[in-house]
Amino acid sequence: MNILVTGGAGFIGSHTVVELCHAGHTPIILDDFSNSERSVLDGLKNILGFEVKFIEGNCNDSSVLEKVFSSNKIDGVIHFAAAKAVGESVQNPLKYYELNVGSLITLIKTMEKHMVEKLVFSSSCTVYGEPDVIPVTEQTPRKPANSPYGNTKTIGEDILRDVVLAGNQFQFIALRYFNPVGAHESAEIGELPSGVPSNLVPYITQTAIGKRKSLTIFGDDYDTEDGTNIRDFIHVVDLAKAHVAAFDHLNDISEPLYDIFNIGTGLGNSVMELVNTFEKVNNLKLNYSIGPRRPGDTVKIYGDVSKANKILNWHTEKTLEDSLRDAWRWEQKLASKK
Ligand code: UFG
Repeated sequence: MNILVTGGAGFIGSHTVVELCHAGHTPIILDDFSNSERSVLDGLKNILGFEVKFIEGNCNDSSVLEKVFSSNKIDGVIHFAAAKAVGESVQNPLKYYELNVGSLITLIKTMEKHMVEKLVFSSSCTVYGEPDVIPVTEQTPRKPANSPYGNTKTIGEDILRDVVLAGNQFQFIALRYFNPVGAHESAEIGELPSGVPSNLVPYITQTAIGKRKSLTIFGDDYDTEDGTNIRDFIHVVDLAKAHVAAFDHLNDISEPLYDIFNIGTGLGNSVMELVNTFEKVNNLKLNYSIGPRRPGDTVKIYGDVSKANKILNWHTEKTLEDSLRDAWRWEQKLASKK
């Protein structure tokens, strides 16, 4: 299938492009490099041995989308293009609503016009807020989002549901990602945070390489075994493969559909466990200290992924050790280029 991958030069998008190709699909990347770099295209070429079709443009621009859909045969879309910095979204909510919600609406309208019916949407476990019971299943009630970013994911899901309920022929899947980490094992592509990373693993790898002085662990007095937060850290390649599985599932279906899947490992690891594992697998010592809690952090969350296991026939293949080895290899590769 020819699959339009919006945000295909980003962290999860680029790894998904690789897995789509491996599965025999033909991805077309649409990206405006607002939060990614051109060098990603070289990394993709080095992994795949050929150039993936690439279009530069903003997918919130209806004229760009119109051109993409009228000049390419597109069988379906994976929509990654969005902004994702929780803190920035609090400062600049309109940017988030315009970009994340606006682009989804523009995209669906263009798909409707061109009779493209299949879409996989990047949602997030952020829609569960601080859950009362873990692991969370897809039936776990969503909670009011604690950031505009999180709210754009909740609204995005609602838009998909309502459009399908309105009797359209669409087949939509929302994947609720847990915490994606790691990099491609070739170290040709990985995470490229702009500025100071706000996410844990890039902060760790940048500290280990000497770009940052020390990692601050945001709180060790939570109600968890070692006092640090618990997350479900999933290798980005496993997450990428979930998109291929979601597409293959959509391909088997002809009736209208809106469905949601948790995409994580099904395991919870604490921040401290992750730091210890990073040190162990990479045989190094990390500079870190314990600091105050970060406002808005969920205390503990991990996902029940049995629905994706069963219906999408998708399972994770990689461990936390693999993720942290690959993340470190990627950081070293970045450093060697400078
Ligand atoms: N952490 C630190 N120090 C740091 C960075 C993070 O201790 O320098 C801790 C956080 O407090 C948290 C854990 O590491 O306990 C993970 O933090 P991340 O920022 O890496 O990830 P989050 O779980 O906060 O956020 C992620 C995505 C969001 C998404 C959210 C859904 O980055 O986009 O999951 O819960 F909304």
